[in-house]
Amino acid sequence: MKTVAVINQKGGTGKTTTAVNLAAACAARGYWVLLVDLDPQSSAAYSLGLDPAREPATLARAILDERPLVDMIRTTGIEGVEVVLGGPELATLELRIKNPLTAVRVLARLLEPVKPAYDLCIMDAPPALSLMFTNALSSADGLLVPVTPSFLSAKGLEALMATIDEARADLQVNPELLGIVLTMVDKRLALDKEVEANLRSVFGAKVLEQTIRLTVRLKEAPGHFRSIFTHAPGSSGAQDYDALADEVLARLKLPVRQEKETEVIEVSAAGG
Ligand SMILES: Nc1ncnc2c1ncn2[C@@H]1O[C@H](COP(=O)(O)OP(=O)(O)OP(=O)(O)O)[C@@H](O)[C@H]1O
Ligand SMILES: [Mg+2]
Repeated sequence: MKTVAVINQKGGTGKTTTAVNLAAACAARGYWVLLVDLDPQSSAAYSLGLDPAREPATLARAILDERPLVDMIRTTGIEGVEVVLGGPELATLELRIKNPLTAVRVLARLLEPVKPAYDLCIMDAPPALSLMFTNALSSADGLLVPVTPSFLSAKGLEALMATIDEARADLQVNPELLGIVLTMVDKRLALDKEVEANLRSVFGAKVLEQTIRLTVRLKEAPGHFRSIFTHAPGSSGAQDYDALADEVLARLKLPVRQEKETEVIEVSAAGG
């Protein structure tokens, strides 16, 4: 199992949208995917029709009660994607955790026994330099950084790259930066083109070729508890996330899988 953390300390850059739709795109290619929600806001869980407030099996409980992660895994409406909900207690984990010395690696330790069951683990990180953010860095093979086009994007990215470098040194880990992905791009705007060109000149090949266009379809999909591929299969959002999956998988060097033979049917998990 390879682990990919979708990170950015800035809020609202498309992390959750990217984590959920990348998971769905990879599952459609035949990979078994575990989506792990590291955000106390639980946006990924809500997007899949699950309510962490009513669900006792969460990542926070696994950490606090020292229980195995396998007890916390749930199926989703997306064939091939299973999920671990974060849980609201993640917000105060720093205060509650029993052993602060091992706290920065607790996620890596919990993931170890489930590795044989999945090809890919995708982690949706919170928009904060919190304990779960550090855990994302200490357990990831690869990092994916969604960023929205704005003049401040490059500044935020420079700060993030410095934080990643510090984590590499302090935690003695070496997650690879798989790529920076521009999201919510409005191709009609000169500003968006200018920001994209600037990021490509500063970060070179670290900026993925594929960008994600701005589309209301991607905004709607979570409200229907669906991925973009079921909500609006022909949309620009579906095309962009499909192509992004190819680029990310190539950089991750995951071996190609047979597409699953069962028909991919997504159902609303909330609806039972
Ligand atoms: N390409 C897009 N086009 C239009 N809307 C989008 C697009 N990508 C994401 N959104 C919307 O923008 C908002 C923020 O996206 P998302 O929740 O994925 O960001 P995030 O980085 O996970 O936020 P947070 O930092 O709060 O966790 C959501 O309402 C989402 O539906
Ligand atoms: Mg999010």
